[in-house]
Amino acid sequence: MPPEASSDLIPLYLKRNPRSQEAFEKAKRILPGGSTRDVIFYPPYPLYVKKGKGCRIWDLDGHEILDFLNNYMSLILGHAHPKIVEAVKAQVEDGTAYSSPTEYESRLGAAVQERMPSIRSIRFTNSGSEATTLALLAAKGFTKRKKVAKFEGAHHGTNEATMVSTTPSLKDAGNPEEPKPIPDGPHIPNYILENTVVLPFNNSAASERLIQKHRGELAAVMVEPILGSNGIIPAEQDFISLLREVTESNGIPLIFDEVVTGFRVSRGGAQEHYGVAPDLTALGKNLGGGLPAGAFGGREDIMAQFDPARAFRIPHSGSFNANPVSLRAGLALLDELTPSLYEKLDELGAYAARGLRRIFDEESVAVQVTRAASLFCVHFTSEDVVDYRSAMSEDSARKFNFFLGLLLNDVMLAPRGLGCISAPMSRREVETLLQKTVATIRYLKER
Ligand SMILES: Cc1ncc(COP(=O)(O)O)c(C=O)c1O
Repeated sequence: MPPEASSDLIPLYLKRNPRSQEAFEKAKRILPGGSTRDVIFYPPYPLYVKKGKGCRIWDLDGHEILDFLNNYMSLILGHAHPKIVEAVKAQVEDGTAYSSPTEYESRLGAAVQERMPSIRSIRFTNSGSEATTLALLAAKGFTKRKKVAKFEGAHHGTNEATMVSTTPSLKDAGNPEEPKPIPDGPHIPNYILENTVVLPFNNSAASERLIQKHRGELAAVMVEPILGSNGIIPAEQDFISLLREVTESNGIPLIFDEVVTGFRVSRGGAQEHYGVAPDLTALGKNLGGGLPAGAFGGREDIMAQFDPARAFRIPHSGSFNANPVSLRAGLALLDELTPSLYEKLDELGAYAARGLRRIFDEESVAVQVTRAASLFCVHFTSEDVVDYRSAMSEDSARKFNFFLGLLLNDVMLAPRGLGCISAPMSRREVETLLQKTVATIRYLKER
């Protein structure tokens, strides 16, 4: 939950957004806290959006906002890209889902495999949460073990087995070399905590020791190679290589959660970027070209457990799995993601991060800007940000004010300082972000 914004930003926000407030009041009557998606909630209430086009959105109160968040990094082509709209329209006219497969599932599967050769076999889901859940079930079924190792500060979606130590308070989190499993909420029972090994990100020695300690019991090590939700924190190359070595030598499946990084940080995702092939991968976000989709896949021997012709298998159904609208949108998206587009996104990501660092430096505000390709994050701390605990050293109230200040200036980042570049952007939009950043910092300083 973000902290309360300082008192004079909230009245400005309330005054500027009466229609969003009205929509929120209605939502509160039927949705708990007025929300159905935690991550997009912030106090006093989020902006309600009417329309998106390219890199801009329009809210109910008529503001045109430069969107540096992109449905939390999942719309690399921006809003309503003509090729996506065309693919979706074509499929909707032919029906949105059938009780039969379509040819698009093997086509998108092959397109994914061509980009991520470690994915020898694949299944589709409707979300990243389902993808991470099923990847873990696959690993548990294959190894006949029940413990899962995950990293402190890593979010893997609404997935019971990993809803541990995602945002633990540092006073509860224990020894940094052997973090204590802390439940994400009241729904996590003790048996989950007892079966979760929490590893410290980017700490090779401690992670290796903990994996070795639990090696006979671990069904999987799940890692998001670039920690997304806690601030775009890239793993060091040696760290990812070490994880591959230690899991391989102990027969533990290594799962990459590439829900954020897949097709985002490079054509072949984080596994291409690091040159490391996991046993299983979970995908989501960009995979469906802006529509709901996820997938998990990897080694054929592990994935064979889902073969429906097997009597004793891992059952996996889903009324809208591999629905052709999302698959066709995903195929249209992958066609658009050319090497030159990745180059442009990377260049703009670097330009934004450099510009932000320079501005905060000139304005004497202690900030670290982390980046991976077109993803970046602003951390209000003077400490190097390399893992969850260093990210937590920041001044979160200050960051929230920065977010709200930017939004009052018609620029959207995430409340946690996260941002990304989308294909319709150019240096002009990044310049706008930088100018609005200067205006916001100065405003916040002068109050
Ligand atoms: C790394 C990571 N894994 C999994 C998920 C869950 O994906 P979804 O929101 O599609 O269920 C998310 C969502 O933000 C994520 O960031």
